Amino acid sequence: MDRPAWAPRSIDISVPSVSRIYDYYLGGSHNFEVDREAARRAMEFMPGLPKIMQANRAFMRRAVRYAADSGITQFLDVGSGIPTFGNVHEVAQAARPGARVVYVDHDPVAVAHSQVVLGENPDAGVVAADLLKPREILTSPQVEQLIDLERPVALLLVAILHFVEDTDDPYAAVAELSAALAPGSLLVLTHASYEGIPLPQGRAEGAVDVYKDIRNPLVMRSRDEIARFFEGYDMVEPGLVPMPNWRPETAPEDEDPYAFSGFAGVGRTS
Ligand SMILES: C[S@@+](CC[C@H](N)C(=O)[O-])C[C@H]1O[C@@H](n2cnc3c(N)ncnc32)[C@H](O)[C@@H]1O
Repeated sequence: MDRPAWAPRSIDISVPSVSRIYDYYLGGSHNFEVDREAARRAMEFMPGLPKIMQANRAFMRRAVRYAADSGITQFLDVGSGIPTFGNVHEVAQAARPGARVVYVDHDPVAVAHSQVVLGENPDAGVVAADLLKPREILTSPQVEQLIDLERPVALLLVAILHFVEDTDDPYAAVAELSAALAPGSLLVLTHASYEGIPLPQGRAEGAVDVYKDIRNPLVMRSRDEIARFFEGYDMVEPGLVPMPNWRPETAPEDEDPYAFSGFAGVGRTS
């Protein structure tokens, strides 16, 4: 298989990656046949997967605008993924010129393509790091240069925590990142769940098994388990809800039923 110029040498392009599968669901071009094949297998069980991803991106953009409108000018996006339409820096910097954005991902394609998209943007940077190593994120040169931790930050953990198994203690990683944030900071989060999927659970499990097969298990958590990530935060109205119901700009009734799969929420530290 030919290696395109955007694929870093370090990656094994015969193994699917969750960021490239997600890119495929969203109609992007940074994916390989192995990724598309895994995505198509998952879609045999849950044909509405792309609708879930679109609802996730739409929530993320509304939440970034909400943060900017509430005076936040710094964004730390962990698990930022392969850039696509309407990225965090575009939304944040359109609402607040000069807003600072740091992207963090452990996937080399996501990091390399983010660097290309950001180009010479002086107010944004990319870190190759793991959510499970919060110190490395917080002490990275990009965070030290661009983010003033004495002032409020919007911490984005959008569609990432469901890739972290309980044995790796995602709650501890979120608590460590949250502890570094100044009062008035926001946690913006989405998470997959069997709750809200318009299919019998047995059918949805078929899609979850595809991620297990590619050794990137998708951890479906209950609403209560997801709410625990917000320990120490006050929930912003309307709380932890299906994605289309979080401060909608268009009528949620018009959304595809799949868009209501999983949960989204924003919390604020006091
Ligand atoms: C489904 S994508 C979400 C991208 C973006 N946040 C969005 O919602 O559009 C999940 C991203 O999380 C990244 N990811 C998963 N586990 C991670 C970890 N432990 N540390 C850093 N990034 C991780 C993946 O590489 C992928 O790019």
